[in-house]
Amino acid sequence: MPQTRTILITGAASGLGLELASRYLEKGFIVFGCLRSESSKTKLLKKRWGPKFHLIKIDLRRSYEISSLGRKIANHAGKIDILINNAGVMNRNEKISTLDWKKIHESMTVNSIAPLFVVKSLLKQIKSADNPKIINISSLSGAIGRVSGFSSLYGYKAGKAAMNMMTRILAQELKGDRIPVVAVHPGTIKTKMGPENAQSSAEEVSAVIVKLIDGINIGHTGKFLNFDGAELPW
Ligand SMILES: NC(=O)c1ccc[n+]([C@@H]2O[C@H](COP(=O)([O-])OP(=O)(O)OC[C@H]3O[C@@H](n4cnc5c(N)ncnc54)[C@H](OP(=O)(O)O)[C@@H]3O)[C@@H](O)[C@H]2O)c1
Repeated sequence: MPQTRTILITGAASGLGLELASRYLEKGFIVFGCLRSESSKTKLLKKRWGPKFHLIKIDLRRSYEISSLGRKIANHAGKIDILINNAGVMNRNEKISTLDWKKIHESMTVNSIAPLFVVKSLLKQIKSADNPKIINISSLSGAIGRVSGFSSLYGYKAGKAAMNMMTRILAQELKGDRIPVVAVHPGTIKTKMGPENAQSSAEEVSAVIVKLIDGINIGHTGKFLNFDGAELPW
């Protein structure tokens, strides 16, 4: 009998992370949803899916919480088939004259350093899966070549640019283990973070991203992909 597949998604309490959790539950996965606090929607999903949906409280600004993630998962699963580093933070209205040290640190930590340490913490379980995949939800905002005009998002853009670089380096390191690592731009989505004129709902985007992830293999490793699968410039 084939083993049940497992996925860990950060930022699972809202927006894209919540919809991805819901889609993978529908697909029969055991889902580990990482969040800072439960939302009414995660409570509903928990009620519906019971032990197939594990909620793990974690604040990605805290290294000690990330480093214990692997041990917490080990109590429930020996492998992680898919890791989606989805959590992200955007602090708006940053100007050089008013920049806040703590807020820039938060952006860099949550958007780029934490995802790498989540991989570190889960490495044993990821390597134990047959065809594991690591998906970093990035943003076109992190593409240095596209910066034009002033956008007031120092921390977010720099955090996603750093995430992209870490994706590329990690992809090289894990190539020998045949573990694809990709950065994915999800488009603009109507979420807490998304712009008012966002193109799609999180429900719509999650369906497309699940299909994209289904098709990811080692040939894609180290790439920056649009949610529709097109390769993007760094
Ligand atoms: N929406 C867009 O248009 C868009 C465009 C490009 C890329 N993205 C990327 O898509 C991903 C999902 O974002 P979204 O649009 O779904 O927005 P969202 O609803 O704001 O989701 C972001 C998630 O990250 C979590 N998070 C933030 N700081 C955290 C921390 N310190 N520890 C743990 N979790 C933390 C949030 O949890 P809390 O609720 O506890 O804050 C939230 O669940 C992000 O990486 C974002 O950068 C979004």
